[in-house]
Amino acid sequence: MAHDLPQARWPGADEALMSRLFSPVRVGAFTARTRTWVPAMVPWRSTEEGDATPEVVDWYGRFADGRPGVLVVEATGIRDVPSGPLLRIGDDRFVPGLRRLVDEVRQRSAGETRLLVQLIDFLSIRRRPDRERFLGRFLEITDRHRAAVGLESSAPEESVREALLSLDDDELRGALNARELEALEYGARERVTDTHLPHIAELPRTLPDLFADAAARAMAAGFDGVELHFAHAYTMASFLSARNTREDGYGGSREGRVRLALEVLSAVRERVGHHATVGCRMLGDEVIEGGTRVDDAAWFAARFAEAGMDFVSVSKGGKFEDARQPKVGAAAYPYTGESGHECMPTVRIGAPGPFGRNLPLSRAIREAVHAVAPGVPVVGCGGIGTFSEAEDAILRGDCDIVAAARQSLADPDWWRKVVLGRGEHVRRCLYTNYCEGLDQKHKEVTCQLWDRRDLDDEEQPAPRLGREMSHDGKRRLLPPRAPLS
Ligand SMILES: Cc1cc2nc3c(=O)[nH]c(=O)nc-3n(C[C@H](O)[C@H](O)[C@H](O)COP(=O)(O)O)c2cc1C
Ligand code: SF4
Repeated sequence: MAHDLPQARWPGADEALMSRLFSPVRVGAFTARTRTWVPAMVPWRSTEEGDATPEVVDWYGRFADGRPGVLVVEATGIRDVPSGPLLRIGDDRFVPGLRRLVDEVRQRSAGETRLLVQLIDFLSIRRRPDRERFLGRFLEITDRHRAAVGLESSAPEESVREALLSLDDDELRGALNARELEALEYGARERVTDTHLPHIAELPRTLPDLFADAAARAMAAGFDGVELHFAHAYTMASFLSARNTREDGYGGSREGRVRLALEVLSAVRERVGHHATVGCRMLGDEVIEGGTRVDDAAWFAARFAEAGMDFVSVSKGGKFEDARQPKVGAAAYPYTGESGHECMPTVRIGAPGPFGRNLPLSRAIREAVHAVAPGVPVVGCGGIGTFSEAEDAILRGDCDIVAAARQSLADPDWWRKVVLGRGEHVRRCLYTNYCEGLDQKHKEVTCQLWDRRDLDDEEQPAPRLGREMSHDGKRRLLPPRAPLS
């Protein structure tokens, strides 16, 4: 690879132990042993029914081997609705499987790693339809369409569909409104502003309990707490968005947009009490036209901290609004446009490159949070993959805790290798997003480096709770190990 990775400064073991990165930090109800954090990453390993399979358990066990201070389990659905192989926590029947995951992490980290689960709600998004099916079946025919194709208001639906099907692309664009065109070209996607739909209008009434129930199940499964997913392309981030124009008191002004998030926090806290850590992941910048910028984000974070949020984890972008057009039969993926590239920056991103790229956002948010609640830690993330980057971010005051997603995927042992003074053995992430490409296709996420077997000593095979290879039989499901001492 010709890409330049920044020079790593690896500490000796003594230096690592004296570092800020490896010093303890209070996070709500618990003290994390170190300021190292593995943020949520969906590995696409649960069943279609949302259960934690042995592969899911093994995945988290493998991260626990590296003993990060905190490990966050992937975005886990708070509703009991079909959502592909995404973990769910929307019913009590999911608790035993999640408890197995918790037990595995406790055991493999020797009790050192604190464990959170990220709780997510999302609205419906459909796959991009083909033109014939859309115009022939899905499109709801109205008099506007009749007028557009020059038919009387008494014209039967079938003739309108036939007339629409005969239009060329430009004519069709003139006949459809913006949402219909989006449904045709990208797949229909609900928005929090669709208040003409009763289930969307009712979200402020339904979501607080759904989140609270899910958080109670997380605690029953033995987690140390929950991370409320207020980031990226999902429901709660859409309420916080500057593009939320709801007129029912849950949109418009900053106060309106933050209201549901505060009500969710309050419902969760009431349900789980102060023995649970309750934090959130939020966006420092949506990176879309008309979206929320860091000044709003810092203001929201301060309101969260005042209301008793135990940590704020900062991410960036990852929105549907600028996603690339999917192929027919596929759904839009919110990490394909500029906002998505900012969320998981690669070495191909523009200046100043991916490394620590999003730290100015966590710094601004940290200042606002600490002005009202100095004890609430802020988690920084984005392109951090060496000891020096992580340590310097904390020393500069960019964040209190450092999250590393892809570096931890490339080498979950990297934290321990650093602590043990074996940093030169870290398998370093290339930041080229092979893993993210798999995520996009909902394929089992793996790292391209794991299959270069000569990189590590294989004398210590990973425990075999599940299968060893991906469904396509081509990739290792888990990272190889190297001896740590
Ligand atoms: C495969 C994959 C899955 C991800 N899944 C989630 C997720 O479930 N929830 C979330 O908040 N972020 C998710 N992310 C984003 C990461 O948590 C992180 O914010 C992003 O990768 C940037 O950090 P990094 O530069 O350390 O990788 C995912 C990232 C990857 C690569
Ligand atoms: S696949 Fe590439 S970007 Fe993803 S973790 Fe591995 S090296 Fe890093």
